[in-house]
Amino acid sequence: MKANILLCSLFLSVTAFVAMGQEVKMPDPALDAEASLKEALENLRSEREYVVRPLDLQTMSNLLWAGWGYNRDDKRTAPSALDRQEITLYVCTKDGAYYYDANQHSLVKVVNKNIMAATGKQPFVENAAVNIVYVCNLPESASAEMTAVCCGAISQNISLYCASAGLGTVVRGSFDAEQLKRLLKLSRTQKVVLAQSVGFPAHSADE
Ligand SMILES: Cc1cc2nc3c(=O)[nH]c(=O)nc-3n(C[C@H](O)[C@H](O)[C@H](O)COP(=O)(O)O)c2cc1C
Repeated sequence: MKANILLCSLFLSVTAFVAMGQEVKMPDPALDAEASLKEALENLRSEREYVVRPLDLQTMSNLLWAGWGYNRDDKRTAPSALDRQEITLYVCTKDGAYYYDANQHSLVKVVNKNIMAATGKQPFVENAAVNIVYVCNLPESASAEMTAVCCGAISQNISLYCASAGLGTVVRGSFDAEQLKRLLKLSRTQKVVLAQSVGFPAHSADE
């Protein structure tokens, strides 16, 4: 527990002073000690009650790599139609918002304030450790349907990682896409298509 608190405060102290456009390099993913696939599948569920606690940088690394990292030279942990890889994951935390640069396995800061509440229409989103926003690069998309399938695969990877690591998560279609687009400073050719909260389940806070 003490080690967890230390790691959490380490992440906060690393990211709180990250300037706009600056990169936070993450450690290599390390998923070795997680649960079996059977245990993870048994744990799968939507979680909407969180205790307020940030993720440490190693967990952030594991989560994003599991979801949409490169597991081969130029290919990822989730499929995309025609290998277009049209999705960029934006990661909102209490200290700002970043996009996930999977090539560098780093986070690049794009917003310097807490926009967690704007990532959904349900109050619990503010208590999550991170809210992931799925952004489609429209010119790369084969079709809206193909992009939706890709997002489903990424979100399921993230859900499986969470279920294996004692984290809670819920995939969300309820958000104000235009407001989020403004806050994340997206271009005309980018579109918000899905959101996902990840955090520490309230029911396991004392365990
Ligand atoms: C595309 C999609 C959109 C969803 N949107 C929301 C949402 O906006 N808010 C929410 O609380 N849950 C949302 N969910 C979660 C579902 O409500 C949940 O998966 C369903 O009730 C089954 O519960 P379970 O995931 O615990 O099995 C969404 C799920 C999917 C696949």
